[in-house]
Order: sequence, then C-alpha cells, then structure tokens
Amino acid sequence: MKIFLDTANIEEIKKGVAYGVVDGVTTNPSLLAKENKGFIPLIEEILSIVPGPVSVEVTATEADEMVKQAREYAKISENVVIKVPINFEGLKVVKTLADLDIKTNVTLIFSTSQALLAAKAGATYVSPFVGRIDDISGNGMALVEDIMQIYDNYTFDTEVIVASVRHPLHFVHAAMMGAHIATIPFSTLSKLLDHPLTDIGIQRFLEDWKKVKK
Ligand code: E4P
Repeated sequence: MKIFLDTANIEEIKKGVAYGVVDGVTTNPSLLAKENKGFIPLIEEILSIVPGPVSVEVTATEADEMVKQAREYAKISENVVIKVPINFEGLKVVKTLADLDIKTNVTLIFSTSQALLAAKAGATYVSPFVGRIDDISGNGMALVEDIMQIYDNYTFDTEVIVASVRHPLHFVHAAMMGAHIATIPFSTLSKLLDHPLTDIGIQRFLEDWKKVKK
C-alpha cells in the first residue's frame, strides 16, 4: 500500500520523506490555511521535497473555472494531481482533465455511487473520507471495502485513497482490504511505529551492552 501524507506542513513532509515511507502528499484548503504561507510557493516547495503525486484542490464551483485552475496548477509539475469535489460540475472537470492527461483525485467521497461515477468519468484516484463517516456513527472502512469490490467487478483503473484517516486501525484495515493508498496525518504515521515493547527492548539491550566486556 502506498502512503501519502495528508498535510501541507513542510517539516512533517521532510521528516516523512527522510523515513523513506512517503509516496505522495494530499493537501486541501483547510490544511493549506494552517500554514500561513503563499499558496503557489508552498505547493512548489512541497513538490520539490516529495518524490511522487501531490494533490492540489480546485476551489472554483463552476466546471469551466475549475478546469482553468486545474490547467494552471498542472503546469507547475507533472506530479500535480488535481483534487476535484464530487458533484456534477466535478464530473465534467474529471472528464475534461482525463482527456487532457491531467491526473485527478475526486474528493469528499461518502458513497459507493459517487465512487462509481467518478471512476466512469475517468478519475485517477478517489478519496473516501472514512473518519468523517465514523464521526457520524457510520462505518467508513465498509465503504472502502464496497468501492474496492465495485472497481474489481468492472476492472476500473481508478485507485482508492483511504482519506480522513484518524488512527492506526484505519491504516491497517486499509492494507488488509488491499486499498491502493492511505493518506494519513503525520500524527498517525508516528503512531504506526510506536510500541512499548520495542522501547523497553531497546532500553534493555542498551543497558546490557554496558555490561559487555569490550
Ligand atoms: C484527504 O484528501 C483529505 O485532505 C483529508 O483526509 C480530510 O481529513 P479530515 O476529515 O481529517 O479533515
């Protein structure tokens, strides 16, 4: 499973890339707003660090305007993936961008029918928001499982990005289901590695090493 970092924070991205486990980054307007930096220079900086796809969201609401924004962002680098919200205007944008060979990440997916239509329109990726579904007492990972089955039934090439990840179990279940990608906050990446027995084990080996004759 590929791992994307769901952040626009340069320090977090640098750390994740240095660990050798980050394949890409997803941003959204809320994540960009936290950084208090110029939008385009920040995206360029992220692209210079990450050796893979970086999702950048369009913010217009009409298809023509979204396509205009998308073409401008796509010019920055071939690693730019255009994040498009799922609605009818969004579908038109996905179709147009697919014809132009510009990659898309269809975002705010909360149902299987949305994911099916996005794939038919030519989406490169879809992002079901599992945490936000769990937040309202739904089952986000069940949605991922259903989307994976539908894509498999009809051999769509669209890849599933498990998004709105809140904890390590989302990540582990995504991998067990064979989801293509999980996009995770940096805090979740740290939790994936933590284990008290590992910490205790390292400590014990270091103490015993002091007793070894050298
Ligand atoms: C994904 O692309 C989104 O940026 C993100 O996962 C949304 O997560 P949130 O529900 O924690 O805001």
